Amino acid sequence: MGKTIKTIFHLSDIHIGESGVSLGDFREVIEGIEKRSPHMTSPLILITGDLTGEGLREEYEAFADVVNGIETPLVMVPGNHDERNYGAAHFEELFGERFKTYEDESIALYAADSSEPDNDAGHVGRVKYNEIHDYLGGAKEKVRIFALHHHLIPVPNTGREHNVVEDSGAVLGLLDRVQCSLVLSGHRHVPWMWNLNDMIVYTTGTLLSRRVRGATTQVHTLIELSKTDVTFTLVEKSGSASLFSRAELRPDVLG
Ligand SMILES: [Fe+2]
Repeated sequence: MGKTIKTIFHLSDIHIGESGVSLGDFREVIEGIEKRSPHMTSPLILITGDLTGEGLREEYEAFADVVNGIETPLVMVPGNHDERNYGAAHFEELFGERFKTYEDESIALYAADSSEPDNDAGHVGRVKYNEIHDYLGGAKEKVRIFALHHHLIPVPNTGREHNVVEDSGAVLGLLDRVQCSLVLSGHRHVPWMWNLNDMIVYTTGTLLSRRVRGATTQVHTLIELSKTDVTFTLVEKSGSASLFSRAELRPDVLG
């Protein structure tokens, strides 16, 4: 593994308000990350949606109370649960744009809202394709990352397929054309990695929901990027960590 140039704490599917999900557990995870952050290289927290259980104001406010004021840079997009009960309005008011970008000297990240009100299916939408193309296509010297809530490729060990992004073929084609390095998502509550035409497509598990599938448990993922590879480490609620996967990145990040 090469020298780490970026550390991403990838969290997803927190589901504040859902039965069995503890706000105290969420606070503990965030405080743990805040303690580790100063010792990591260029840390970022990425949350790929389903912050809340039902998109309700009180759930959003409880969530905001934990993350507001933290020191580590934070990028978040909504998930299908956050857009129930027209929760997108609360997301925008408390956290800003639903589509956003984040860029530093080593990465260019485009984070998309793949959810729609009262619809569990995923959707990116043609209206955004040019913007995604121009942003990621214009960042050839960096690790190019696309993040969204829903999965673009089905995830094994999750039962029968549903809610895959409706326009996933078109989005994958677009990401392939701009030579995206890494796709990060959640939604299925099971960690998995695919390598598709040298693009690494990673889904993390649920941080706190009881609805884990089969033998998996609640986790977030510590992602360490170098110029040549990426390492995914699963971190359980207890703090215990285990290597999940490692992959080479596209070899065109200039050094
Ligand atoms: Fe979801």
